[in-house]
Amino acid sequence: MVSSFFTPPYYPGFSMEFRRINNLPPYAFATINGLKMEARRAGEDVIDLGFGNPDIPSPDIAVEKLAEAARNPKNHRYSASKGIPKLRLAVADLYKRKFGVDLDPDREVINTIGAKEGFSHLMWVLLQPGDAALVPAPSYPIHIWGPLFAGADVREVPLGTDTEWFDELQDRWEYSWPKPRVIVLSFPHNPTTACVDLDFMQRIVDFAREKEVVLVHDFAYADLGFDGYQPPSILQVEGAKEVAVEIYTLTKSFSMAGWRVGFLVGNAEVVGALEKLKSYLDYGTFQPIQIAAIVAMNEAPDFPAEVCSIYQGRRNALCDGLDRLGWEVPRPKGTMFAWAPIPEPYREMDSLEFASFLVKEAKVATAPGVGFGPGGDAFVRFALVENEQRITQAIRQLRKALTKL
Ligand SMILES: Cc1ncc(COP(=O)(O)O)c(C=O)c1O
Repeated sequence: MVSSFFTPPYYPGFSMEFRRINNLPPYAFATINGLKMEARRAGEDVIDLGFGNPDIPSPDIAVEKLAEAARNPKNHRYSASKGIPKLRLAVADLYKRKFGVDLDPDREVINTIGAKEGFSHLMWVLLQPGDAALVPAPSYPIHIWGPLFAGADVREVPLGTDTEWFDELQDRWEYSWPKPRVIVLSFPHNPTTACVDLDFMQRIVDFAREKEVVLVHDFAYADLGFDGYQPPSILQVEGAKEVAVEIYTLTKSFSMAGWRVGFLVGNAEVVGALEKLKSYLDYGTFQPIQIAAIVAMNEAPDFPAEVCSIYQGRRNALCDGLDRLGWEVPRPKGTMFAWAPIPEPYREMDSLEFASFLVKEAKVATAPGVGFGPGGDAFVRFALVENEQRITQAIRQLRKALTKL
């Protein structure tokens, strides 16, 4: 009776309660994934633009270094939880080279196990029950769930244009009690693709200094700006280090998603606080991975620009194609996504229904906007994780399925 073993309760007479995760909604993306798998099992070729899982191979030089370092038994031991010194130095050099920002590798840089782990544990450090955080909505899910897991309240700030967002943010601040201790930012933004400039960063830093609130900027798309747009680091603006920390990751920039190499940089007190928590929680990333990451940053500094130009080509293929179909989608200036309003003739469907329709009828998987929280349900998100030919094929399939356009 194997099947009953997999259906809760697993052990008759004993039912466990998992209070911290009880309220997690079912992952909306799982439904689309299920439909995709079903279609693939039936022999259909589904073009997967749903999950933002980078498909571009990591730099060869990093792969080779990883293999070499893995053969050295000295690297098999526990590593430093905050990251080995040369790794932190490589990030400081990258920030100097790319943004003109000075970072002290000992006090202002710490290695994390990807951006997601760094962000989640940072929320534990900054927040506790009774506290509040301001978070853009819609959002990359952990930006909402991270503060909630730490026991804090989340006040969602609807994301339209950057000016509107700043006004909304000020409003939410005024009406919030208790006063938020943290503001979460992430530009270029997943899923909306909203981008900001240095003026915006200066305004938000000035606001945070006045209100004494910590800014956490998840800079996952630091290197993915198109048509000459250069996403700003929050640390480029005056006074930022007094209030701000930033998360940089090799996931998208160096296409090293599975390696789990991220960093928290900026305000030394906040970096030090996360370092303290992580010294209790983990022994750091596997040292050969840290060594390979150093080589990627130091010896393949142009790799992010190559990755960016691949995504830009895919963005063009997707947006030009959708344009030709008559589906109006804003052309993203950054990220590896397009945030597509459900077209008018299909608006009676919510995002899960529409994304399900696209898998079944067009054999194209997208992410339903509802999975990104409030404000997302009128959209689906395309991730640029298939090559231009496949994206063009996806457009042909969409044309056949979207007969009302
Ligand atoms: C805003 C944002 N932050 C973080 C991540 C995950 O980064 P990492 O792989 O470094 O955990 C993603 C991935 O999609 C993202 O969109």
